Amino acid sequence: MAAGTTLTRHLIEEGGWRNDGAQDLRSLLEPIALAGKVLAREVDQAALAGKLGLAGDQNATGDMQKKLDVIGNDVVMDAFSSCSVVAGIASEELEEPVVMSTSDDARYLLCTDPLDGSSNTDVNAPLGTIFGILRRHRGGELSGEEFLQPGSELVCAGYVLYGTSTLLVYTVGAGVHGFTLDRGVGEFVLSHHDIRCPEAGKIYSANVGRHKEWGAGVRKYLDHVTEKDKPTGRPHSLRYTGALVADLHRCLLDGGMYLYPGDPGSPDGKLRLLYECAPLACVAEQAGGAASTGHGRLLDVVPGAVHQRTPIAIGSAENVALYERFMAEG
Ligand code: AHG
Ligand code: MN
Ligand code: MN
Repeated sequence: MAAGTTLTRHLIEEGGWRNDGAQDLRSLLEPIALAGKVLAREVDQAALAGKLGLAGDQNATGDMQKKLDVIGNDVVMDAFSSCSVVAGIASEELEEPVVMSTSDDARYLLCTDPLDGSSNTDVNAPLGTIFGILRRHRGGELSGEEFLQPGSELVCAGYVLYGTSTLLVYTVGAGVHGFTLDRGVGEFVLSHHDIRCPEAGKIYSANVGRHKEWGAGVRKYLDHVTEKDKPTGRPHSLRYTGALVADLHRCLLDGGMYLYPGDPGSPDGKLRLLYECAPLACVAEQAGGAASTGHGRLLDVVPGAVHQRTPIAIGSAENVALYERFMAEG
């Protein structure tokens, strides 16, 4: 596709997305792009507008909400308020999924982490928005159980990364494409066509401050990647931003693996399956990478609850496969 391709033009020209129509794709991604633009502005101006710091409440998974978490959720909800094809939204910041449209056209469900990496809000470090779209398989009153589908059922997934620039990355099962926000004209413009994750990489990304709590498999894997062995490119380098979206984005472009394992106190780790891990796993696989719970493909896990957590290792396929071998040996 030619340079200077806007997201809107790309969506018009991009025919290949499973069984759904190009019009549906536009109806779903335009609100995401709008939310991305508004949030890029909100994040940019937050320090000047008194929008840093805590909001004062806890969210459904017990995290203290930042003001920008609440703003992020409101922005995504507002962006989808006039989108008739989305029946409901499950969000990290909502106790229960909410109904968005009761129209007969409302054939989709949105899962979102409106603001990923909220510990970064007050220190001018990267943030993200994660989104995943599932099909709705019935009409009538929306039930939270309709969201409990494995990530393999996602028809569209991606993220917006608010970093040194704002980048929207999405997949609908026909490759992974990235669009950088040109703030001057207010458009996302194609900058990363067909992102391919290197098969192996030399970056590991984890909160190693927790390593004493991790099981033998994780610790042995970390011992392995930090061991000096020139021919295999070890030791690997540590990069950890505190925002999964930013750390995964680095892995997709440069190779490497992000991991957030479980530990005895939280066997399922920290990250949430439905609206954090599954959409990013979908992107990683579409880019030729992999995502695992440590014991199997993450996209095969059927959520038992909207806010269910899962351990995750995600990034270059060879790194993830090696991690699984260490986990199997324990
Ligand atoms: P969120 O801000 O949506 O709660 O997600 C934060 C996540 C993830 O982005 C990040 O990698 C991880 O939590 C950081 O957790 P630790 O502070 O435990 O490292
Ligand atoms: Mn998050
Ligand atoms: Mn969040």
